Amino acid sequence: MSMRSHYCGELNGGHTGEEIRLCGWVHRRRDHGGVIFVDLRDREGLVQVVFDPDRPEIFRLAEQIRSEYVLHVRGRVRPRPEGTENPDLATGEIEVLALDLTVLNAAGTPPIQLDEHGQDAAEEIRLRYRYLDLRRPEMQERLRTRGRITGALRRFLDDHGFLDLETPILTKSTPEGARDYLVPSRTHPGQFFALPQSPQLFKQLLMMSGLDRYYQIARCFRDEDLRADRQPEFTQLDVEASFMTEDGFMRLMEAMIRELFAAVLDTELPEPFPRLTYAEAMRRYGSDRPDLRVPLELVDVADLMQEVDFKVFAGPARDPAGRVAALRLPRGGALSRKEIDDYTKYVGIYGAKGLAYIKVNQWTAKGRDGLQSPILKFLPDAAVAGILERTGAEDGDLIFFGADRAQVVDESLGALRVRLGRDRGLLAGDWRPLWVVDFPLLARDEQADRWTALHHPFTAPREDQIELLASDPGACLSRAYDLVINGTEIGGGSMRIHREAVQRQVLALLGIDDQEADERFGFLLQALRFGCPPHGGIAFGLDRLVMLMTGAGSIRDVIAFPKTQTAACLLTAAPSAVDQAQLEELALRLRPKPKTTG
Ligand code: AMO
Ligand code: AMP
Repeated sequence: MSMRSHYCGELNGGHTGEEIRLCGWVHRRRDHGGVIFVDLRDREGLVQVVFDPDRPEIFRLAEQIRSEYVLHVRGRVRPRPEGTENPDLATGEIEVLALDLTVLNAAGTPPIQLDEHGQDAAEEIRLRYRYLDLRRPEMQERLRTRGRITGALRRFLDDHGFLDLETPILTKSTPEGARDYLVPSRTHPGQFFALPQSPQLFKQLLMMSGLDRYYQIARCFRDEDLRADRQPEFTQLDVEASFMTEDGFMRLMEAMIRELFAAVLDTELPEPFPRLTYAEAMRRYGSDRPDLRVPLELVDVADLMQEVDFKVFAGPARDPAGRVAALRLPRGGALSRKEIDDYTKYVGIYGAKGLAYIKVNQWTAKGRDGLQSPILKFLPDAAVAGILERTGAEDGDLIFFGADRAQVVDESLGALRVRLGRDRGLLAGDWRPLWVVDFPLLARDEQADRWTALHHPFTAPREDQIELLASDPGACLSRAYDLVINGTEIGGGSMRIHREAVQRQVLALLGIDDQEADERFGFLLQALRFGCPPHGGIAFGLDRLVMLMTGAGSIRDVIAFPKTQTAACLLTAAPSAVDQAQLEELALRLRPKPKTTG
């Protein structure tokens, strides 16, 4: 039997007169003219408990309790006296008169405040005392939402015939493009397991095993540089299915996300989700994960700039690898010099060497004289007219320009677009999901002078373009798709290569010859020979999805026990040194620490 009859947070006027039993933590204690008030807190919320001096025994006990003591209270629900109701609190119309009190445990003074101010505490302290940080109502709410999200996803997949199966954690390197975490083997001295960067190869093998539909809430490990939306250890909702077209599969996953948003946020997402090709996303938004809430678009103007007397623009305009693009900001004429300077600095982060602009003051009445711009002197009339027409600029607007290698223009103007959207309050709509499709199969790593897989090496090329693998690999499109919501890549997947020859050909393009392929992926290549079904799948970044749906500012705020920016766990102080004996057992010897000088 439970020690409690109710959760604190679920009590309301309907319980008036009932005798109830509560368990929880002391959120706050206040002494008021001989009466003691305690806000008692549990997972579901707070309720006010009143200790009356009429009951001297429990009153004396109540005088000793402090914040975060753990109490068991038997009491009676009663309406609060008129004028003392608290409309900000769910239980604010009632209070509990204590009839009996047991202190289940005492508590020292907590190192962080356990209310809304706790969020302001240094993150280091919050992570070190994570169990206290997690007691804060805000964190409780996020983790509860996380639980509801995984519940809704599981229900959908269970209902649609997907089997929840596990795959190994001690395994072999899977190439998702990050560094591996390695685990030394005791029984095979000098050899290592790799922790999975994703269950990719195992889920494909499950399809080859005939299991048809699989899912897993899977932990993935990637030793990479961390950002606000990345963790070294993170969770995917990993899904794979056989004998489905990509269209059918994408529609099914989309239905799952729609049901999720309806169940957890009571929100309707569009049906179907819009689809954009990679090429169009880059052209219009400078990004393969565009935030469609921002109503600004990049416009190509290279053809208007080829002959201008300004090398900075004419150069990239003539270069096939260059790009010259304009970004119109409606009513941007009001931007101050300082604001423009700040935006120029901002695009500098992405490698842009400047941020030219035209302020359209009075184009209709005054033509050229109605414009204000540091580059106006370089632009012939035809170019100016072309720019205004193509961007659709009106009096009062401002047009920004980027000219450089295409990648620099995409990244800088793409980021500026989102920043302007936020700064200028232009975001339209709450949720804007979309699929990005028709990615190139390969990307060129110019520095290393080789091809890399844009997704991973098991992504299938488009059936009608397989010939391009031999003649023009860079032009070959893949059968990959990414799900993007509000500028965050929530998930990515593809139809897979299911024929050995194609798989070997793609691996060869990536610089993995047959011998290396057999060493690293021999088990997969062999499995492809024994009747592999056409199959494909997707993985959703569960932490990112929760972050988005709860509006949390950091991925760490939706993970119960996250790692720091330097991939450490402050709560347990991991990683940590190990005994010499343990090292010897693993046949490992540490290199002496380099001596530091001066
Ligand atoms: P991918 O590498 O795109 O695909 O990962 C899928 C999704 O996982 C999330 N994600 C991360 N979240 C937090 N921290 C990280 N370090 C991190 N890295 C990725 C992203 C991403 O969209 N095996 C393939 C999927 C497939 O092809 O089915 C894969 O892992 O939201
Ligand atoms: P400058 O001749 O260097 O003074 O540049 C003239 C204007 O062009 C300034 O507003 C610069 O910010 C801008 N500019 C310079 N380089 C670039 C570039 N690569 N892309 C866009 N604008 C640029």
